[in-house]
Amino acid sequence: MRVLGIESSCDETGIALYDTEQGLLAHALYSQIELHAQYGGVVPELASRDHIRKTLPLIEQVLAEAQLRRCDIDAIAYTAGPGLVGALLVGAAIGRSLAWALNIPALAVNHMEGHLLSPLMEEKPPLFPFVSLLVSGGHTLLVDVQGVGQYRLLGESLDDAVGEAFDKTAKMLGLPYPGGPVLAALAEHGTHGKYEFPRPMTNRPGLDFSFSGLKTFSMNTWLNSKKTDQDRADIALAFQNAAVETLAIKCKRAMKQTGYSTLVIAGGVSANKALRVSLNDIKEIQTYYPRQEFCSDNGAMIAFTGAMRQRSMIKTSTAPSFSVRPRWPLEELTPPSPV
Ligand code: KG4
Ligand code: ZN
Repeated sequence: MRVLGIESSCDETGIALYDTEQGLLAHALYSQIELHAQYGGVVPELASRDHIRKTLPLIEQVLAEAQLRRCDIDAIAYTAGPGLVGALLVGAAIGRSLAWALNIPALAVNHMEGHLLSPLMEEKPPLFPFVSLLVSGGHTLLVDVQGVGQYRLLGESLDDAVGEAFDKTAKMLGLPYPGGPVLAALAEHGTHGKYEFPRPMTNRPGLDFSFSGLKTFSMNTWLNSKKTDQDRADIALAFQNAAVETLAIKCKRAMKQTGYSTLVIAGGVSANKALRVSLNDIKEIQTYYPRQEFCSDNGAMIAFTGAMRQRSMIKTSTAPSFSVRPRWPLEELTPPSPV
């Protein structure tokens, strides 16, 4: 079965074709970074309009790359949430219309499930059960994963997501959007031990996170510094160290609590090198990541999730109406329907 995946939940248009027999056939990504950079963050209306411009040409591009025609697509998976409502509606409307026109099934995919399952596309995939650390711009989640659609939330951020804290701290330091990767690059020039930031919520039990205080701590440190380039790099390093160690402490705790030996990390922040080094260091634990290009939003993870859930797909000809879910908790998901 060949599944076309459409991702349009935020500022990236991602399209991919996944074959349940042959694996990933082709994928393409268009990032709107340049469009939003001048505003210092994502402008939802501009994001929606750009998804409208890019989705169909990217679908044609991916089909050409895979040397296939539209009639060779067997099903369409599109991101239906969580995300920006207008952006989601573009992918959903195009995905559902195309499925209706081609008389093939369509599936509304949860974006966070896409991230969660993305490491399973790799050559050596992790085996269930495992703990998943999902770290993106909108979410910081620790999940007990028993199988596809069998998710139990172990912990989450009570305020800012870790990616959001990276982005806000970067913005406050005067770094360009999107801040996370820029801050991480700058941290490489920081002086070790210059500043020591707190590790929020690590000295009390539980697996929840809080990152907004760390962002404020960074801001106060910056305002009280001489604001030199070196100060900027030192604060970037101290912030990154604190965020990474906080995540690592909670991961260790989650592994102990579940008794599992497999830890899977996904989402935009899973591209962070310091985080990978720190989590790889956890003893007697095997860690798995998506390849670098699939850490951030992409169409491949949506096509793949669709393929994993193919039994739940519905023929759109019998259900022409659709909706999207800007908020859609992972825990509401259920395993693929029985045949
Ligand atoms: O998963 P993603 O592409 O989109 C969402 O679903 O939110 O994650 C984007 C987030 C942004 O906050 C971005 O700054 C962060 O991931 N990010 C990073 C790195 N690369 C991306 N944060 C820290 N270090 C990185 N190398
Ligand atoms: Zn994402």
